[in-house]
Amino acid sequence: MSPRALAIAGLRKRYGRHDALRGVDLVIGEGELVGLLGPNGAGKSTLTKIACGLVRPSGGEVAVARPFGYLAELFRFPGWCTADEVLVLHQRLTGSDGGARERGELLELVRLEGETTTRVEAMSKGMQQRLGLAQAMVGSPRLLLLDEPTSALDPGGRRTVRDLLEELRRRGVAVLLNTHLLSEVEQVCDRVVIIDKGLVVAAGTPAELEGGSGVEVELAGGVRRFEGGREDVPRIVAELVAAGEEVFGVRVTRSTLEDVYLDTVADAR
Ligand SMILES: Nc1ncnc2c1ncn2[C@@H]1O[C@H](COP(=O)(O)OP(=O)(O)O)[C@@H](O)[C@H]1O
Ligand SMILES: [Mg+2]
Repeated sequence: MSPRALAIAGLRKRYGRHDALRGVDLVIGEGELVGLLGPNGAGKSTLTKIACGLVRPSGGEVAVARPFGYLAELFRFPGWCTADEVLVLHQRLTGSDGGARERGELLELVRLEGETTTRVEAMSKGMQQRLGLAQAMVGSPRLLLLDEPTSALDPGGRRTVRDLLEELRRRGVAVLLNTHLLSEVEQVCDRVVIIDKGLVVAAGTPAELEGGSGVEVELAGGVRRFEGGREDVPRIVAELVAAGEEVFGVRVTRSTLEDVYLDTVADAR
């Protein structure tokens, strides 16, 4: 078994009478990028906070690699702090001796290199979120726990985060990425875990979850669907023509992560 950045087994959390997590298993290998997907209230933030040690579990096992970085879903840095000062503060908190070189490199990674002396209060929410990501990377963590890190970002900012995640992969940093944005996990994650109402309802690589393709053929009587992929198109068409059908169009389709999500998450539709 490869070393693990995060190992969670049978995790349960009860808030009063409400079961937020009902026995969740989740393992992240060293350097692996795992997307944790699920609707609001599924338990994503609870799981992440337990991994950080901010919330006490009601049951189950959690082992987390150190050092790790965390970006909370809702966070606020003091408005009067500059970008550089926020990072200085977190260098002190984590005991990082990276100095100005580390701060400069992190601001560059999140495209805030020109904003060293900009105060938080003068930043857009998206800029603050990118500063939050830089903060999470102070001290060169082996694992990053990111709770909805792109919720306030515009498409350009999301691209920056995607590039950043690719860079983290090159550096061998493991990432747990909480999100409800399917395209995000589809594009960058090694593995996806979908949770709903405190339970894992699907898990696998994006390709595994997306599963097989199909062939849609437009005939005089309407569209008919066949199993198979591109390589099956000539045979399917030949058989239809031989059977006296007229073919007006052919399309190879794939089920997307969105299809899987909507099929596995209760009440999603
Ligand atoms: N501190 C808390 N006290 C009581 N209930 C909570 C608390 N935090 C979360 N919950 C509940 O637990 C469930 C999971 O919440 P959360 O982990 O925030 O989900 P997600 O991050 O997937 O949206 C929700 O039903 C939420 O209302
Ligand atoms: Mg949440």
